[in-house]
Amino acid sequence: MRAALFALAVSAAVHAAPSNTACSSCHPAETKLHERTRMAHAMLPALASPFGQNLPDQPLHESSNGYSFVYRRLQNGVGVTALRGETRVDGLIEWVLGAGAQGETPLVRTGEDTLESRVSYFPQLHQYGITVGQDAGVSPNAQAALGRKQKPHDLESCLACHSTALTPDLQPLILGVQCERCHPGAEEHARGTGKPPLNPGKLTAPDQVRFCGACHRVKPPVDDAQLENLRFQPLRLMKSRCFESGKLACTTCHPAHSDARRNDPDFYNEKCHACHDAQTLHTDQRKTGDCIGCHMPYVQLHPALKFTDHFIRTVKPGDLPQSILRQRG
Ligand code: HEC
Ligand code: HEC
Ligand code: HEC
Ligand code: HEC
Ligand code: HEC
Ligand code: HEC
Ligand code: HEC
Repeated sequence: MRAALFALAVSAAVHAAPSNTACSSCHPAETKLHERTRMAHAMLPALASPFGQNLPDQPLHESSNGYSFVYRRLQNGVGVTALRGETRVDGLIEWVLGAGAQGETPLVRTGEDTLESRVSYFPQLHQYGITVGQDAGVSPNAQAALGRKQKPHDLESCLACHSTALTPDLQPLILGVQCERCHPGAEEHARGTGKPPLNPGKLTAPDQVRFCGACHRVKPPVDDAQLENLRFQPLRLMKSRCFESGKLACTTCHPAHSDARRNDPDFYNEKCHACHDAQTLHTDQRKTGDCIGCHMPYVQLHPALKFTDHFIRTVKPGDLPQSILRQRG
């Protein structure tokens, strides 16, 4: 898929500090925790993002006779030029989406258009590559080489999931997923009205799953392949019999204001015991240890992207293609 050569680069996680000062005086603990999460950094100014900090010093190439890409740091962002023979087109990258857990995709402005960049940065691989969901191969024209044009509606939803407040012309006012996004009413509350804001911890489990699902998705995008839906945690979780209990929420396993704990299966295995007594369930000794290893498989959907199938079940042979199943760690 990424046969075309993309330059190597070194990763350095750089985080621009969000401003949650309206809350920090009274909620210092939550603020400190949240500011360290990837959600808080889901959208970054280009120059502060790992993408912008690791620009390749050699041009990147689509393939031997495709477009080349040249990047340079400017005052107001990262400049990009796509070139092929006599053809060239320039774009400006002001914003980069994704904190860098797996991928980072810039938005490219050229003329009147905003594009989803054709080139993304994959920090885990220390590599630039074609953006997930876009075709490999040679671009049909220079603009297509810079990226895929976003209709205003697509751009709006893209930013609505990766930032907190937007102006009508789609300039983000607050980058990343910040306090007010999960605690509607918090601004007024911070001004001392005495009314507490929404606390998603007090929603019923199904309502909380739908709340987080507004971004993590309860429904797949229309053009998505079946297999790709595995990455939508709420959609998958809702298929589980555990979810039918009405008591399984996102926060049952993910404490608020925290990232997922990668490579710490026991943290999650503990959570199963709240509802299941493994000793009485499994007669086979092998089945008592790593619950999530067997019941929440880890899947690789792209050379750079791994997710956890949140459909908790007994995974039957052939349920998922062997080629995408991975061990954690
Ligand atoms: C002047 C101090 C103050 C500021 C500023 C403040 N809070 Fe609070 N907040 C409180 C107090 C006191 C409580 C507990 C009493 C209550 O529920 O009203 C609380 C409760 C909460 C709760 C829990 C509500 C519930 O029902 O469990 C949330 C969530 C919250 N605040 C979020 C925020 C956010 C987000 C901000 C910033 C936009 C903020 N607060 C700013 C004092 C403050
Ligand atoms: C406004 C949209 C939005 C809402 C609402 C939202 N998320 Fe997220 N979440 C994101 C985005 C975007 C990311 C990806 C951050 C990144 O890596 O750039 C993310 C990432 C995460 C991660 C993974 C972080 C990591 O890489 O380890 C967890 C866990 C998570 N969210 C849990 C939740 C939970 C639980 C809720 C509900 C209480 C929730 N989210 C609500 C948008 C949202
Ligand atoms: C419906 C909400 C939604 C929309 C629309 C959306 N995203 Fe995301 N995006 C998310 C969530 C949630 C995650 C976290 C995925 C996870 O870790 O499970 C994410 C993750 C990412 C990542 C990081 C992948 C990783 O895990 O490191 C990138 C890059 C990204 N989005 C770019 C974009 C771009 C560019 C657009 C618009 C063209 C867009 N997103 C539109 C919700 C959204
Ligand atoms: C992605 C969603 C999300 C974001 C963003 C977020 N919170 Fe929360 N917050 C939650 C959830 C979920 C809970 C409920 C935790 C629980 O009860 O398990 C919570 C609970 C709280 C509480 C109540 C704590 C308690 O002991 O009951 C406070 C206060 C709070 N958050 C403040 C903040 C502040 C301040 C920020 C920004 C710095 C913030 N939150 C950002 C999801 C979020
Ligand atoms: C909030 C409670 C709760 C939690 C937490 C929970 N489950 Fe469940 N789970 C249930 C209920 C209820 C059922 C359906 C009745 C039964 O089989 O016991 C169920 C069913 C199952 C089944 C059978 C599925 C099927 O399709 O027949 C498996 C496997 C399972 N759970 C594994 C797990 C694992 C692994 C964890 C931890 C990652 C977990 N559960 C966490 C409540 C829960
Ligand atoms: C029964 C426990 C459990 C519940 C409930 C749960 N998760 Fe997870 N989640 C996990 C485990 C286990 C991982 C993988 C940790 C690792 O990398 O080893 C994970 C990882 C994630 C990630 C990182 C990307 C990925 O897919 O690996 C995101 C984002 C996430 N969960 C969001 C959510 C959201 C949103 C909800 C609510 C709809 C939710 N989770 C409910 C156990 C759970
Ligand atoms: C080595 C893989 C493996 C591990 C580890 C494992 N399971 Fe299972 N589990 C299975 C299989 C396979 C089944 C289907 C029934 C059987 O063969 O016993 C199952 C069945 C279940 C069921 C449904 C039982 C029923 O009566 O329908 C639940 C609930 C469950 N497991 C929970 C857990 C929990 C909780 C843990 C961790 C303490 C765990 N499992 C660890 C493989 C595993």
